[in-house]
Amino acid sequence: MSYEAYKLIHIFGMYLLFFSLGGVALYSINGGKKSDNKFKAFVAIFHGVGLLLLLVAGFGLMKFRDISHSALPVWIILKIVIWLAFGGLLTLAYKNAKYAKILWFVFPIMGLFAAYLAFYQPS
Ligand code: HEM
Repeated sequence: MSYEAYKLIHIFGMYLLFFSLGGVALYSINGGKKSDNKFKAFVAIFHGVGLLLLLVAGFGLMKFRDISHSALPVWIILKIVIWLAFGGLLTLAYKNAKYAKILWFVFPIMGLFAAYLAFYQPS
């Protein structure tokens, strides 16, 4: 697969992830409970598939940048940490409207930081 194809998949994963994060955050802020969410299966699918595509395409992209999977640079490790946080924080947004309000602002900043790391590759 080409570099462009991996990037497209990486970005599509991002769209799926952010769709689920934004949807859940707004739903939770407005008092929604997970058990009443009529679309919860699709939220879970978008979140899970989005994360999976990001991870697989992220590791695929590394080979075009000559990054060895066994000696990861700091910026990649930070992206993996952000990826893990995106995995856990959906549940927090679902469970707690107060945290969901904070995460509404934190999620885009985390996305910005992940993109910054990819563009500048600081170390
Ligand atoms: C395990 C997690 C991740 C890994 C290993 C990873 C790895 C990479 C790599 C190797 C690139 C290519 C950099 C280049 O072209 O030189 C990239 C690009 C990018 N990543 Fe990730 N990434 C991960 C997670 C994320 C997450 C969670 C986001 C945002 C939510 C994200 C956003 C981006 C963006 C915006 C680009 C730039 C794409 C472009 O150049 O068009 N990544 N990532």
